[in-house]
Order: sequence, then C-alpha cells, then structure tokens
Amino acid sequence: MSEKNISNAAAILEPHKIEMLFRRDEINKRVRQLGEEISRDYQGKTPILVGALKGCFVFMADLARSISCPLEMEFISAASYREGRLQDDTIAVGPSPILPIYGRDVLLVEGVVDTGRTASAILKRLAIDEPKSLETATLLRKKTGAKLDKEPKYIGFEVDDLFVVGYGLDYSQLYRNLNFIGHVPEFEK
Ligand code: IMP
Ligand code: MG
Repeated sequence: MSEKNISNAAAILEPHKIEMLFRRDEINKRVRQLGEEISRDYQGKTPILVGALKGCFVFMADLARSISCPLEMEFISAASYREGRLQDDTIAVGPSPILPIYGRDVLLVEGVVDTGRTASAILKRLAIDEPKSLETATLLRKKTGAKLDKEPKYIGFEVDDLFVVGYGLDYSQLYRNLNFIGHVPEFEK
C-alpha cells in the first residue's frame, strides 16, 4: 500500500496499525455494480432502504446514489453491548423505523455481517411490520460467520475473519472516516 492511499488516515493511524484491504476505487466500482443490480431487481418499485446504524452510513450514501429507481430511506440502530470489538450476547435494536414499511419492499443496508446476529435481530424486528419483501445488502460478509436463515442477497465483498475498519466501520467509534477499508492485524491473533 502506498502512502498516497492512506492520506486521509495519516493523522489517525496511530495507535493501531491498519493494513489496506480495499482501496476507495475498488469499493466505488463494487458499490456501483451493486447499485445497478438493485436497480434492475427493483425496477418499477420504490423500495425503502433501511440502514443499520452506524456502520452503514458511508455505504448507504454511496449505494443509494448508485440506484436509479426511486427510493426512500430510513435508519435503525442495533448494537451489541461491548467495548471496542468485544461482544456479548445482548443485541439491542433501537426504535422501529418511522416510515411505515407495511406492504413495502424493504432493503436492509449493513456495513458488515459477521456472525449475522445483528442482521437477524433487525430483520426479525422489521418482519413484524409485514413488508412485502425484505432483503439485505451488506458491503462486507465475513466468510467465517455462521450461515443465516436468510443470507444477504447483495454482498459487496466476502472477507476472511479480519477485523475491518473504515468506510463507516469502526473500532471503538474510531476510523469510520477512513476513505478505504482496512484491517487491524493486532485484533486478529
Ligand atoms: P454480527 O452481529 O456478528 O454480524 O456483527 C455485528 C456488528 O458488529 C456489525 O454490524 C458491526 O457493527 C460489528 N462488526 C462485526 N465485525 C466487525 C469488524 O470486523 N469491524 C468493525 N465492526 C465489526
Ligand atoms: Mg462497531
């Protein structure tokens, strides 16, 4: 990785060593492809994109602008109680979306699906309101994660069991503003 590629990160690379995984141009290209695929699949419809905060926010902004059909946007929050990357069993799903999703085509937008517990908890919550269809788009899917009852239909990149940061994804709330996706080797031992 050249220094040029990490320019916007230079000031915050300490104290963690972050290695490049996907450059901005690779991400842009893949997100555009996903947007085209989603535009074809939802032709003639007006889907509601429901972003899972906070990790979705950069992906959601780019994906939404790559989709050519009319769409609405909503956000939902879900968090496992943890410090940094440590996770326990509790997933707290925030209040239901304000936009009514009954009878609508809903697309959950996630930054990363690892074990899938967060996505499952959100999907379960959204399903209560009986959308017409319910699918998931995730930028990253960890190959090591358990198989879900309903796998994301749209996946940007499948990744190994790495701790990823950047492009919306955090370690302890940091690094969401990196303009690339990196990983942190010290968390992967
Ligand atoms: P899951 O429930 O195991 O699928 O993971 C849920 C959440 O953990 C994701 O929505 C992210 O917020 C976070 N997460 C999982 N893996 C990573 C990672 O490698 N980097 C940053 N956040 C992660
Ligand atoms: Mg996080």
